[in-house]
Amino acid sequence: MFRRAAASFGRVATGLAGVQVAAAATVALTDKELSKKPEWYQIAVRSIEDALKRTSKYGYIESGATLEESYEALAKVSDIHNTEIQWRIARILFEKAELSKNHTEILHLLHEAKDHAKKALAVEPAKGSAGAHKWYALILSRLAKLEKNSEYETEAFKHLEKAVTVDPKDPYALHLLGVQQYNNKDYSAAVATLQKAEAIKAGFSASNLYYLGAAQKAAGKKNDAITNLKAAVQAHPKNRFDGKARSSAKNALAGLGLKPEEYEVKDL
Ligand SMILES: *[C@@H]1O[C@H](CO)[C@@H](O)[C@H](O)[C@H]1NC(C)=O
Repeated sequence: MFRRAAASFGRVATGLAGVQVAAAATVALTDKELSKKPEWYQIAVRSIEDALKRTSKYGYIESGATLEESYEALAKVSDIHNTEIQWRIARILFEKAELSKNHTEILHLLHEAKDHAKKALAVEPAKGSAGAHKWYALILSRLAKLEKNSEYETEAFKHLEKAVTVDPKDPYALHLLGVQQYNNKDYSAAVATLQKAEAIKAGFSASNLYYLGAAQKAAGKKNDAITNLKAAVQAHPKNRFDGKARSSAKNALAGLGLKPEEYEVKDL
C-alpha cells in the first residue's frame, strides 16, 4: 500500500520550497484531493512530507529520535529511484552512524548510506543535486578514515566541489570544502571558501571560525587569524564539532603568543 502512497509524490514535492522532486511523481495530488483519500493514506503521505522537510536542513540533525522517525517514513519509499529521496536516506544513515559508538554498526550504516547516495547520483537531474554530492562526499570522507582508503578522500573532495557549485548557499558544504582545502594545505583557497561560508551565515559554527583563523595563520595573515581564532573561542558551541574547534583555537592562539587572559571568555 505504501507504493501507492509513494505514487503521490508529486503532492509531496509541492510542499517543499526550493526542492524539486520529479521523477517518482506520477500522480500530483492537491490538498483537496488528498483530503478525500483514506486516512492511512493521508497519514503516510504526510509522514513522508514531514521527513523530507526535516532532512532538507543544511546543518546536522543531532537528535536520534528525529533521525529514527525520518528513517521510518522514508524507508517506505526507499525503492523509488529518486535523487531527493535517496540522498536523504543516505544522510540519515550517515548521521545515525555519527551517533553510534559500535564500530561494526558504524561501518554497516556507512556502507548502506553509500549505496543510497550512489543511487541518488545515478538518477541525478541535469541541474545537479547538491544534497546528493554533499552527503556522498561526507560518507566517503568518513569511510576514507575508517578504512584508510585515500581514493575515497580524493573522490570526496570532487563531490564537495560539485555540491557547492550546484548550491553555493549552503554554509555547511562550504565549510566542509574549506576544511578539506586546509587539510590539503591550499590555504588561500581555504580562506576564500571559509569566508564565503561566514558571509552566508556569520558565526554559524565555531569550527568554521577556527579553520578560517588557522588557514589565515598558515597564510601569514596574523591579525585576521587572531580575530577569527578569538571569535572561535568565544562562540557559543552549537554542535559536537564546536567544542573541539574551541580548544584547537585556544592552542593556535597560544601558538601565536597570546596569553589566556587575552582570549578566554571571562566567567561572570
Ligand atoms: C555492534 O553492532 C553489531 C551489528 O549491528 C551487533 O551485532 C553487535 O552485537 C553490536 N555490539 C555491541 C557491543 O553492541
